[in-house]
Amino acid sequence: MIYNISETEYPRWAEAVRERNSAKAPRAFVQSFGCQQNEADSERIRGICTDMGYSLTDDPSAADLILINTCAVRNHAEVKIFSLLGNFKERKAEKPDLIIGVVGCMAAESSVAERLKRSFKYVTFTLEPNMLHLLPKKIYSYLCEKERTFTVGEDKGDIVEGLPVYRMGGKRAWVSIMYGCNNFCSYCIVPYVRGRERSRSSSEVIEECRGLISEGVREITLLGQNVNSYKSDMTFAELLEKIASIDGDFILRFMTSHPKDASDELIDVMRRCRGKVAPYFHLPMQSGSDPILKRMNRTYNMERYLSVVKKLREAVPGIALSTDVIVGFPGETDEDFKATMDILKLVEFDLVYSFIYSKRDGTKAASFEDQIPRDISGERMNELLEVQRDISKKKNVEYIGKRVRVLVEGPSKRGEENIYTARTDTNKLVHFSSDIDKTGEFVWVKIERAGAFDLFAKEISEE
Ligand code: SAH
Ligand code: SF4
Ligand code: F3S
Repeated sequence: MIYNISETEYPRWAEAVRERNSAKAPRAFVQSFGCQQNEADSERIRGICTDMGYSLTDDPSAADLILINTCAVRNHAEVKIFSLLGNFKERKAEKPDLIIGVVGCMAAESSVAERLKRSFKYVTFTLEPNMLHLLPKKIYSYLCEKERTFTVGEDKGDIVEGLPVYRMGGKRAWVSIMYGCNNFCSYCIVPYVRGRERSRSSSEVIEECRGLISEGVREITLLGQNVNSYKSDMTFAELLEKIASIDGDFILRFMTSHPKDASDELIDVMRRCRGKVAPYFHLPMQSGSDPILKRMNRTYNMERYLSVVKKLREAVPGIALSTDVIVGFPGETDEDFKATMDILKLVEFDLVYSFIYSKRDGTKAASFEDQIPRDISGERMNELLEVQRDISKKKNVEYIGKRVRVLVEGPSKRGEENIYTARTDTNKLVHFSSDIDKTGEFVWVKIERAGAFDLFAKEISEE
């Protein structure tokens, strides 16, 4: 079911917290881990915080409310978050009224909720990722009753529309079009923590995009674990085309697309809407070996995968491709790994996000017996990184001498004066010097140098 917040308890609780906060000037600190989906949720969390009367701070020691939006996809992410929470123990001792909430994907794991309840007495509550509208209620019950709550399993597959959003991206915005995942890839915890797929209505999504574009947003990224399973009165390809047809100077991105249903219809929309839909496609491959793909429950084989790559390159010349690869999946032999490496060399992706397989309790692959020793996965990973670095560099070198339009993201993070960082429509990071800060604007640059992960350019007046 899709509800509007006005039909839920949200307004009542948000107002109740606001009232309790009215005599004070409380501050909230929100930290986000994980994927873009979580970034988008954190913008809603910040929106809810301001709605409840908190001002936002980026200093946790100044905060009265600390919210950690967590990721559960790999064990490493969880270890990092437990150690971060450990740092808050002292803070809570100094400030007994401090509220510490753990939200996001880890909060949907009952083992995590149990551990936090039992061993992290200074943590106030957990809240599952699709239940953000309950945040004010959780906070209110702690403010009034000092009640700590750690409930898992409240998510019934609904969508609550109309939550306040505090956007962080300036001229770049995330728009979630669907939540959850039904694919159950055998290694992946996401379907367990994010619940079943549910799609927002097309009119809500289109109106949100129209609003953003009229506010001057220059880049919209549509989000979903598998955008091609979007289901409403139109397909994802139709939705993309509808948004692309809105008047305005903007580009559209989307992620992620499962190769099993990256449709011809979608590829055709990318071809027809090239000026608006960015010529970039993230197509997670995971492995280049058919037997491993089968054990991963990815439901495509390499023949299908390569046919999608071919169609994309034919339909959208110059398209940039990126992928995800898991190294050391249970049972991965040297031959399986070689098959992955052969595909990387054959396809020449612009960028590869590679991960060492991490065993997630409760997933099917966790019970596979032939787990790969860490030193073997590590060696395979190093080999992959080395080979891919050269491929990425080669793809970037092809840009030298080209004139391209880029969207300026802001001053360089390396702190160099008058250096700005921007992105091409093919999602490549570009550094260039400028006397004027043009953050959030499209500018033209000429590429002069290339590394494996970024390009260096000079601003030019126009095409
Ligand atoms: N829905 C997206 C992926 C979300 S998770 C999709 O299907 O493409 C992002 C990436 O994390 C995955 O593509 C996968 O490569 C990696 N990943 C997921 N579970 C993992 C695990 N248990 N160990 C290592 N990497 C994992
Ligand atoms: Fe995980 Fe697979 Fe769903 Fe992606 S499609 S979130 S990898 S289960
Ligand atoms: Fe992590 Fe949850 Fe995203 S597990 S990758 S934050 S969907």
